[in-house]
Amino acid sequence: MKKILVIDDEASMRELLGIMLHKEGYSVELADSRKQAAAVLGRGPVDMVITDVKLPDGDGIEILRHLKAAAPETVVVVMTAYGSTETAVAALKLGAQDYLIKPFDVEELKIVVRNALEKQRLEEENLLLKAEFRVQHGLDRMIGVSPIMAKVFDLVRSVASTSSTVLVQGESGTGKELVAKAVHALSPRREAPFVSVNCAALPENLLESELFGHMKGAFTDAHQTKKGLFETAHRGTLMLDEVGEMPLPMQVKLLRALQERCVRRVGANEEVEVDVRVIAATNRSLESLVREKRFREDLYYRLNVIPIVVPPLRERREDIPLLAAHFLERFSKEMAKPVTKISEQAMNRLRQYAWPGNVRELENVIERAVALETTPVVLPDRLPEALLGAAPSPASATASSAAPELAQGFSLDRHLESIEAELLRVALEQAGGNRATAARLLGVTPRSLRYLIRKHAAPVEG
Ligand SMILES: Nc1ncnc2c1ncn2[C@@H]1O[C@H](COP(=O)(O)OP(=O)(O)OP(=O)(O)O)[C@@H](O)[C@H]1O
Ligand SMILES: [Mg+2]
Repeated sequence: MKKILVIDDEASMRELLGIMLHKEGYSVELADSRKQAAAVLGRGPVDMVITDVKLPDGDGIEILRHLKAAAPETVVVVMTAYGSTETAVAALKLGAQDYLIKPFDVEELKIVVRNALEKQRLEEENLLLKAEFRVQHGLDRMIGVSPIMAKVFDLVRSVASTSSTVLVQGESGTGKELVAKAVHALSPRREAPFVSVNCAALPENLLESELFGHMKGAFTDAHQTKKGLFETAHRGTLMLDEVGEMPLPMQVKLLRALQERCVRRVGANEEVEVDVRVIAATNRSLESLVREKRFREDLYYRLNVIPIVVPPLRERREDIPLLAAHFLERFSKEMAKPVTKISEQAMNRLRQYAWPGNVRELENVIERAVALETTPVVLPDRLPEALLGAAPSPASATASSAAPELAQGFSLDRHLESIEAELLRVALEQAGGNRATAARLLGVTPRSLRYLIRKHAAPVEG
């Protein structure tokens, strides 16, 4: 239950507020002066203070100043008499959440209180997310707050201390390489090299000499003796990316190397001992490749000692806002463009999209948006068609499809008014009638929203 302290020297006002707020389900404390208020606050924190500006032993602004220093998370709403808007503005500047002008009606009071507490809740949530974000940052730049990624991070941390072979599976762009790097970075091998090789990119014979090295003259182009990546990764980690594409004859040689912990350079007689942790990665199902006889079963079991499955982005949509914010920060810095925010509408698009290309696709979408954006906020029309196609954004549809005929009798004011009314309607609809949400969707204060509703007499619930 949220606790609200009401401070007013006028007894009738104090009691009315007390009864109203109690009815709304809040726990209420009353005080008639600064002194009494201090006594209440001394007994423990409150979530919200509603204070009159003029008090017998001081003023509400002083209380506000004191609270913002002592308990900044407390929401303060100031009550002023009609005609003293400057005081109200001064209070807002000092950190009051909102103000009420006396006399006000009960509805207005309810809305102000509800919105202020809702804002407080969102701010708390935001702080929490940021804290978690920092924690996950320690995991070698991997971002994620979803429970399903938390499990991946736990697994990464626990396998890191071992030297067991890890098989990272997941769709393209889900972050398999980051997982492999995190395992290495958190492991006792972190000072030794992390080497990655793409098994799909090389034909069989080149892949062999790449992995195991070759002796001078072993084949036509072998002008120099060269050591392979297994040797390069000695005491470190070797990532075999897209291992599912490895040709079958190479699979035999790899299996041997893993079993014997030795490699033989192409054309050499001797074997060299290597101490390498192998992390294999694939976006194919190795099990089905085994069934199709395109991947050796014995190698599969050798690799699949500890499986880590990186889930597709559509199964962890909670991570989207944080990832988007992370990429936004990175690309705006890289391109030296002051794009600092993603509009609520654009974010809704990002949240809803299916992301077949996973995190890499999100990264590319944000990069493109930053490159195209000319305002500080990423708007939906900076997003690729594919994201907008799913469900056309009412906001951008309004702005573009309503391109007016500039014939006689056209009025810019009237046209702008109609756009405003339409966006208001859409926002209230999307918010299911919740005014705080609608205000956020429109990027206006709850107060401005109330003004807009009255102006356009829009139908609203509640
Ligand atoms: N959790 C994450 N936090 C931050 N960035 C991420 C995260 N996951 C992926 N990325 C970024 O997304 C991009 C793709 O990740 P990565 O290369 O690790 O994916 P992959 O699964 O190896 O893809 P592919 O199968 O195509 O090789 C990279 O730029 C990576 O930095
Ligand atoms: Mg990869």
